[in-house]
Amino acid sequence: MLEIQGLNVFYGDVHILWDVSMHVSPGEIVTVIGPNGAGKSTLLKAIVKLMPVAKDEKESGKILFNGQDLDGLSPEETVRLGMAIVPEGARVFPEMTVLENLQMGSYIETARALRKEALEEVFSLFPRLKERLHQKAKTLSGGERQMLAIGRALMSKPLLMLLDEPSLGLQPALVVRTFAAVKEINRRGVAVLLVEQNVQFSLEISHRAYVLENGRIALEGKASELLGSEHIKKFYLAM
Ligand SMILES: Nc1ncnc2c1ncn2[C@@H]1O[C@H](COP(=O)(O)OP(=O)(O)OP(=O)(O)O)[C@@H](O)[C@H]1O
Ligand SMILES: [Mg+2]
Repeated sequence: MLEIQGLNVFYGDVHILWDVSMHVSPGEIVTVIGPNGAGKSTLLKAIVKLMPVAKDEKESGKILFNGQDLDGLSPEETVRLGMAIVPEGARVFPEMTVLENLQMGSYIETARALRKEALEEVFSLFPRLKERLHQKAKTLSGGERQMLAIGRALMSKPLLMLLDEPSLGLQPALVVRTFAAVKEINRRGVAVLLVEQNVQFSLEISHRAYVLENGRIALEGKASELLGSEHIKKFYLAM
């Protein structure tokens, strides 16, 4: 479904991603783990064309989605093709209500036609959002805002969802619920590319994973195998 071949990304003269190759197949949850500053967010942004944005940001390599080369596409065109990103930090429109935020997620025509059905799907996943429908997003708790950010991405009826550290800053019980929601979204047929610092939980729900260190893929494999690897235990699980 998603195929990245030899991706290099630069901010100015600074080389951030080095020859990154990876893929996500239909039905998979694939996780990218790695330390702060490794280039995880840059990778997700490059996929959905949120970068390069400035003249001095360069990129080389190939990104294909269902066989189509994404070179030169706009972020909106990636949404039309079936990709939805939940950016770092649960960004939502603060002055809009929960319902308005969700509706914003289904602005493309194909999704607008399915808006009612998509809303019900979001509510079945996050009943809390239904109770807060007319509340302004800025008054939601951090956990509710994260639910809204995921819900809004679901409203575009994506084939592939990209999530950037959805568990960041949540209390333990909400972390568990967030991962359960990601698993359920996947069970309903959406492929998932997840970036996470919570290595234990994310590998537990994933099929495969990549370890990104200093902008390079340092390790890849089945999630269950990575969970047992010495490198992961030593550097990511502090065991
Ligand atoms: N707009 C930018 N201009 C210049 N350098 C940037 C820019 N955005 C990110 N960087 C640099 O690129 C590198 C990778 O950043 P990125 O945000 O992709 O890391 P990350 O793996 O997501 O880290 P974290 O886990 O802290 O979110 C960092 O060294 C960062 O300082
Ligand atoms: Mg990041």
